[in-house]
Amino acid sequence: MEEIKPVIERKPIILSGIQPSGSLHIGHLTGAIKNWVELQEKYDCYFTIVDLHAITVRQNPAELRKRTLDLAALYIACGIDPEKCSLFIQSHVPEHTQLSWVLTCYTGMGELERMTQFKAKSEKYTSNVNAGLFTYPILMASDILLYQADLVPVGEDQKQHLELTRDLANRFNFNYSDTFKVPEPYIAPVGARIMNLQDPESKMSKSDENLKASIFLTDSYNEIVKKIKSAVTDSDAEVKYDKVKKPGVSNLMTLYHIATGKSFVEIETEFIGKGYGDFKGTVGVAVADYLKPITDKYAAIRKDENYLKEILQKGAEKARNQASRTLAKVYKKVGFVSFK
Ligand code: TRP
Repeated sequence: MEEIKPVIERKPIILSGIQPSGSLHIGHLTGAIKNWVELQEKYDCYFTIVDLHAITVRQNPAELRKRTLDLAALYIACGIDPEKCSLFIQSHVPEHTQLSWVLTCYTGMGELERMTQFKAKSEKYTSNVNAGLFTYPILMASDILLYQADLVPVGEDQKQHLELTRDLANRFNFNYSDTFKVPEPYIAPVGARIMNLQDPESKMSKSDENLKASIFLTDSYNEIVKKIKSAVTDSDAEVKYDKVKKPGVSNLMTLYHIATGKSFVEIETEFIGKGYGDFKGTVGVAVADYLKPITDKYAAIRKDENYLKEILQKGAEKARNQASRTLAKVYKKVGFVSFK
């Protein structure tokens, strides 16, 4: 009788990286993190905080250290479960830089010169156009290829980097033999776009100078209520969804919808005959209530730095387990001597 081999079902692998720069706002929660929380149920997920990428622009060391831990705590507070996925800091897994060097030797200068983000950043940071800014996409490719990721959730601005990652994987596989999984972009279901509270025609942004423009996930209850009270609306007094004519009110309706699940029609009905003062007050409290479990959990986790570091250390161990296997294969294939 023929032996029946058990089929080991491997969950598809997802990897994504987040830069520890700026603070996360409510748009990140609804646009990205919420998706990730769902993904960790179906996929084998690696979420890394890419501090190595962050130093391609100048960082204050104490700030960078703080923001890296802030971000880790925030992810956990939002529902990223370190038991279900690997949450780790990129610099804790030395294989990223090791693979990056090998891949650097397989990347053409012209391929990097074409990158639109490099062009944009070298125009923005003219006094510091360092080589890291230039080779940044290779480090990103290494992040992805080390874990044999099937899917990479990325925004529009990172698609070109993912394309390069695929080219590098194919090139290496072709030159040697199958080594890397060639990853696909993961297009997340689009969440509502959250707009700037002070300028509702542009998106909420983590690097906005005006702190009243964004609702940060680290804001206190009262700060949230206050920011929504002072949100820019328009001069008539009707609560009605109209993105073109009433971008401010529409944005607050979107936030209220996210916080309560109420539809736009229900919201419009609720505020018939009431002024913007009432409306903003109700939305402010609803949004603050909605974020409160996250804010509370964040504060508790962030306070206990030893616990946080323990989680990150375990995450790095899990990640290294996979990363070191891929790197060993690569080293062997390119002809480095090994003792094993
Ligand atoms: N370059 C990405 C950004 O700026 C961050 C990043 C680094 C990343 N490594 C990654 C994203 C790997 C996805 C996968 O947003």
